[in-house]
Amino acid sequence: MKYKSIAFLTVCLSSLAMISRAEDEVSLSKDLMPLFQRSCQSCHQRENGNRNAVKSGYFYENKDDVLRSIGKIIIKNEPKKSHLVYLITPPKDPNQKKQMMPPTRSKAPKLTKEEIRKITEWIKAGAKDN
Ligand code: HEC
Repeated sequence: MKYKSIAFLTVCLSSLAMISRAEDEVSLSKDLMPLFQRSCQSCHQRENGNRNAVKSGYFYENKDDVLRSIGKIIIKNEPKKSHLVYLITPPKDPNQKKQMMPPTRSKAPKLTKEEIRKITEWIKAGAKDN
């Protein structure tokens, strides 16, 4: 009897852990779209975008745009090999010159460490259309 209830409790606890993990999952529409719209869209948009940014063919106006465009520069489940992660990660040495998005000298709000972590997590989990 005692063992049965311990087993039951274990099942309950592990399903609870699974539920909270699902809730923790980064959502493209809820968590990331606001970031892309805040930090990327001012240049990467069809209307009034930065000519060179638009030329590179990336638009961040809606979720489909984002999946189509950054889909090309991410490798699902492999954030370290994804060009997107390279572009948004500041260099270890702050004096090192490196291409960054948003561009280092632009006025566009930078992504915070936590935001970069979210994007990385999302790629690690398969870059889902969620
Ligand atoms: C201040 C304007 C500006 C903002 C904001 C900006 N970009 Fe860009 N982006 C550019 C310009 C200009 C280019 C093309 C010239 C270049 O490659 O430097 C570009 C090019 C790119 C490219 C193609 C270059 C490559 O190496 O693949 C990607 C991808 C990109 N941006 C993603 C982003 C993302 C993601 C964000 C937000 C986190 C962002 N950009 C924010 C101006 C901007």
